[in-house]
Amino acid sequence: MTSRSFILLCTLVVILIASTVSGAERAWNGHTTPGSVKPTAFTPYYVPPGARSYDSSSPLLHYSSHWKESFSSRYIQKSIRSTSRTGAYMSFTFTGTGVEWFGNKDKRHGIAKVYLDGKVVSRIDQWSASSMRQQRLFWAYDLPYGKHTLKIVNTGENSKGSHGKLVDIDAINVMKGSKTPQNVVVQQQQPAGPTMQSLVVNADAQPQWSLEQKGQTGVHAMQLTVISETHALIVDKVEHNLLEINGHPAWAALYNLKTHALKPLNMQSNSFCAGGTFLSNGTLINVGGNPVVEEITNAADFGDVDGLQAVRIFEPCDSEDVDNCDMYENHSRIRMASPRWYNTVLRLTDGSAMIIGGSKKGGWINNQTTNNPTVEYFPPKFGGLPIQLDFLQYTLNSNLFPIAISLPDERVFMVANRDVIIYDWKHNIEQRLPQIPHGVRVTYPMTGTGILLPSHTG
Ligand SMILES: *[C@@H]1O[C@H](CO)[C@@H](O)[C@H](O)[C@H]1NC(C)=O
Ligand SMILES: *[C@@H]1O[C@H](CO)[C@@H](O)[C@H](O)[C@H]1NC(C)=O
Ligand SMILES: *[C@@H]1O[C@H](CO)[C@@H](O)[C@H](O)[C@H]1NC(C)=O
Repeated sequence: MTSRSFILLCTLVVILIASTVSGAERAWNGHTTPGSVKPTAFTPYYVPPGARSYDSSSPLLHYSSHWKESFSSRYIQKSIRSTSRTGAYMSFTFTGTGVEWFGNKDKRHGIAKVYLDGKVVSRIDQWSASSMRQQRLFWAYDLPYGKHTLKIVNTGENSKGSHGKLVDIDAINVMKGSKTPQNVVVQQQQPAGPTMQSLVVNADAQPQWSLEQKGQTGVHAMQLTVISETHALIVDKVEHNLLEINGHPAWAALYNLKTHALKPLNMQSNSFCAGGTFLSNGTLINVGGNPVVEEITNAADFGDVDGLQAVRIFEPCDSEDVDNCDMYENHSRIRMASPRWYNTVLRLTDGSAMIIGGSKKGGWINNQTTNNPTVEYFPPKFGGLPIQLDFLQYTLNSNLFPIAISLPDERVFMVANRDVIIYDWKHNIEQRLPQIPHGVRVTYPMTGTGILLPSHTG
């Protein structure tokens, strides 16, 4: 596998601090719905800007006979329609570019067939061992703008373990889209939730750009890397996301660049402010991160674990079929020797990863108490213990996410604050270089990034 860069965007920490200070939003990280402090089950029901919700009771939804209406505050708009009758259907014609179906999942549910414009597009199993409300059961985006018909039919089938053959409809969302003539610049609204967008070059004589929303990433793309011809790996932090896994929001996902399909990944710990790289054998590691954010969400905890010492492993996943690809994390087996928030991770010439610096807890500006002025390696080297680096002491208080570049002679060029060294990691020797001219400070807070331009010595 060739060298690929891992893009880190941890600047959201500023948002975290802002919300901690204002105390206005206590639920950003919990089971609670925004605005509430009472723990409730997570529901992905959400109407993004530019979409319109149709409740199950809308007269535009046409039901065959044998549907029953039930009422409860647990349902969207307090009502739901359900049927256990084989062949019973709901048909809905809408104008737009996408559609979503929301309903319940539990042990009494069976399997529905979904048709779009007369063609079967999916079989949806509403069975689930645990009871979940307001789940997004089916979605289709990227349809050509126009009139479409969604039909949901009870197949009368159910999966093993199901106690019933219920199919229900709580609400339908329609992505209204617009009738955009070709070759016109799209005035893109602020996208609804996490999205994957691509810039498309206009083929017309007038050189122009347009922005098209092709799909949704399901989780916020805080860290993103393309892992194959077909997929991007996206790592977020622990937070409310539309995509879910095991009854809680997902915090990482695989996004299919061709079909826009999503696969949620199992991630146990909070990857906020982590670092990552590919090892030379193609395995990606994502290490460090954030503790559980208890002062904000103790009453509404997702069950995530402390990410400060986490090692999250993603083995190579090269095929289009990503069914067996997942994030591996087991803190009792594999973890770093010390906690790190805002650590830099660099692949070395021997194919391993050097894990550099960071803070021992989340915060903003690093200081003597929180500083982790060491490097360690994955797979572990030199006995596995963290190795002290002077450079990470005298660069306080501005040395988080230090800039590090592997040099052709295998040593590592490092910059933090205004200081520069070349680190011979094989012999643990720091060679100090002159400071960056004009007093320019390059690392967090208010972080910069860096590359080496081609240079040669006479
Ligand atoms: C790559 O190396 C790492 C570290 O030794 C190991 O954990 C991982 O399983 C290896 N991956 C493959 C695909 O061999
Ligand atoms: C994690 O590792 C421990 C120790 O090797 C093992 O006992 C446990 O089953 C593992 N947990 C998972 C979920 O794989
Ligand atoms: C160091 O930073 C931590 C985390 O931001 C903060 O709680 C602590 O008060 C700071 N200590 C000093 C001495 O500034």
